[in-house]
Amino acid sequence: MSADQPQHDAADERDAFADFDRAAGAGLVRNPYPIFAEMRRECGVFKGPFGERFGLPQPESMMSEVGYYTALSFEAVQQVLLDGDTFSSSGYAPTVGMLMGHSILEMDEPEHGRYRALIQQAFGLKVMEHWETAIVAPIVEQLIDRFVERGRAELVRELTLPFPIQVIAAMLGLPPADLPRFHRWAVELISIIVDIGRGIEASQKLREYFAGILSERRAAPRDDLISVLALAELDGQRLTDEEIFAFLRLLLPAGAETTYRSSSTLLFGLLTRPEQLDALRADRSLMKRAIEEGLRWEPPLTGIARLAMRDTELAGVRIPAGAVVSVCLGAANHDDTRWDCPDEFDIFREAKPHLAFAYGAHTCLGMHLARMETRVMMNALLDRLPGLRLDPAAEDVHITGLGFRAPRALPVLFEASGRRGA
Ligand code: HEM
Repeated sequence: MSADQPQHDAADERDAFADFDRAAGAGLVRNPYPIFAEMRRECGVFKGPFGERFGLPQPESMMSEVGYYTALSFEAVQQVLLDGDTFSSSGYAPTVGMLMGHSILEMDEPEHGRYRALIQQAFGLKVMEHWETAIVAPIVEQLIDRFVERGRAELVRELTLPFPIQVIAAMLGLPPADLPRFHRWAVELISIIVDIGRGIEASQKLREYFAGILSERRAAPRDDLISVLALAELDGQRLTDEEIFAFLRLLLPAGAETTYRSSSTLLFGLLTRPEQLDALRADRSLMKRAIEEGLRWEPPLTGIARLAMRDTELAGVRIPAGAVVSVCLGAANHDDTRWDCPDEFDIFREAKPHLAFAYGAHTCLGMHLARMETRVMMNALLDRLPGLRLDPAAEDVHITGLGFRAPRALPVLFEASGRRGA
């Protein structure tokens, strides 16, 4: 497996960034947390399409004739995510499934458990150790090499956005020359919110692209994730080609977009609180807490969804079978019955499990990877960019978005230093 990556086509990157941003609705909502808190205080479960509270129309894909509910309290969110029999993931089939195919995200038990056991082999902690040195660290170092001598950078465009996509491409063992078009399809896939036709076309192109690589790996397996998926076996059963394509397409939005957002947000939290950044620079044993606090404070994905399979009750609210139940991870992570001053970013607060990676059977499969990627990136930045700070000339740097959140840009200054080994 090689971490050598080609220089990106600059136009590709610019388009990619604009599309990512547009698709995520950045700029529409600056800070949803006061409204989340207001709704949560009214009741642990809000009845009705909550987009209205933000002056936004409810996406059609999130409508249900039966009803729409949003779980907001930590307890209600946990309850929904633990009870997959009552709150099914199959509601993703007509929406996300249209793009990805029948992926793990929309499966219920027992199908989900069987499939997950097969794939999990490829995402364990042991595999992470190998990926950290073989893939993640070299990619981070190469990206930083490009701006380390400049004394200034825009960290979203130059690091946090390209980095996780390059990691996934390298994990899949894609030829470095394919990276620009892989990146473009990845972006087009998630841009479905703004252009359905383009999203579906990208989904088909990715399928064709992966089909060629999968047949090569079946014939001659290598040390990469596609080969692991091609060979994964449980009780004599293997994954079908379509199952593999669905998983590979899911990896792009699930693994690249979320990590770009969470690492940008963590950087934003630290850069806007220089005393916490200094403390972390001086004591790297704080890294784990800083990463978890970033995820708690600003989960990159504020909400996921489930479908009620039977009449039930949640936080005292009756929910009819067939209702869409939105699960607001953002509100749950700011539940003030669990965290003091939840809207504050504080890497020194008492560590308690949060819900950014969800909970229960569908808990994020890539969480070890996401944490490792963030740690490697943060350590490299702290080691190589002394005096790292927000550019004081930059105007109004802030986090934005409702369903997906991140800062749009992170313009920074630092003491220009030599390249690695210089
Ligand atoms: C900070 C980064 C990340 C966050 C916040 C995050 C968050 C989540 C959440 C909330 C879910 C549950 C979705 C649902 O049940 O509706 C999920 C599932 C998933 N994530 Fe992540 N994720 C991150 C990074 C990654 C990475 C790096 C990968 C892989 C490369 C990944 C792969 C997956 C997969 C495959 C699932 C489906 C698991 C299942 O259905 O059993 N994620 N993630």
